[in-house]
Amino acid sequence: MSPTVLVTGASSGFGAAIARRFAADGTTVIAAARRVERIPAGERIRPVALDVRDADAVRETIGALPAIDVLVNNAGLAKGLEPAQRADLTDWDDMLDTNCRGLVHCTRAVLPGMVARGRGHVINLGSVAGTYPYPGGNTYGATKAFVRQFSLNLRSDLHGTGVRVTCVEPGMCEGTEFSLVRFGGDTDRAAAVYDGMRALTADDIAGTVHWVAAQPPHVNVNTIELMPVAQSAGPFQVHRG
Ligand SMILES: NC(=O)c1ccc[n+]([C@@H]2O[C@H](COP(=O)([O-])OP(=O)(O)OC[C@H]3O[C@@H](n4cnc5c(N)ncnc54)[C@H](OP(=O)(O)O)[C@@H]3O)[C@@H](O)[C@H]2O)c1
Repeated sequence: MSPTVLVTGASSGFGAAIARRFAADGTTVIAAARRVERIPAGERIRPVALDVRDADAVRETIGALPAIDVLVNNAGLAKGLEPAQRADLTDWDDMLDTNCRGLVHCTRAVLPGMVARGRGHVINLGSVAGTYPYPGGNTYGATKAFVRQFSLNLRSDLHGTGVRVTCVEPGMCEGTEFSLVRFGGDTDRAAAVYDGMRALTADDIAGTVHWVAAQPPHVNVNTIELMPVAQSAGPFQVHRG
């Protein structure tokens, strides 16, 4: 029987590409997002309306689905790039609610079934922002550090169950709505982020997620970090005077 993959945030960017990538090899994909009408169409793709911030909806919706073999916790967002002292608290709450609370609620909903079946894979979308600080990264980076550590801690809890956990941590990726959402719909500001450089694409991430899931059952990729060649870490900053 073909495996079933649940992808959150499948109406755009990575999530849509991941849904298409799994569907292309015959996997049944349950594709969740708020803008359900934007989820890619496909014979093997079943769209489901879900706001991961709504704990009751997550429990009820996932509880009514068939057995999930792979959960891709991709729904997430960055909002704002202001320094912490000027940042909008509602933006911070939105990132915490989506990237942290939403992700742990979706995970908690699938884990008992995976453990009972002795197999399953939770693949979380972290970010290089969870490891490397940058100005304005404040809460966004902290949510992704949470995702990374939650993933590693899950591995400890799931020891001996056969359930796998991976944190995929991309750097800059263009062609998604990530920067548009971060800058409140400002298309020029969003486009400027990728000006003059070659970033990763959603298909690069989908290929990585698919590869991670395709490893033999005895192999667990704990974390995988990927960046465009054009991006690397900078030096420490020193304030003088
Ligand atoms: N692009 C990058 O450079 C980059 C780098 C590293 C990590 N990431 C991470 O990768 C993931 C996907 O990013 P992306 O670049 O593909 O961004 P995107 O194009 O903006 O896609 C984000 C997806 O998340 C969904 N989403 C947001 N809030 C949601 C909610 N409350 N409930 C359900 N779904 C929700 C959106 O769907 P709806 O609005 O329809 O609900 C959308 O499908 C995010 O976790 C992001 O933090 C992105």
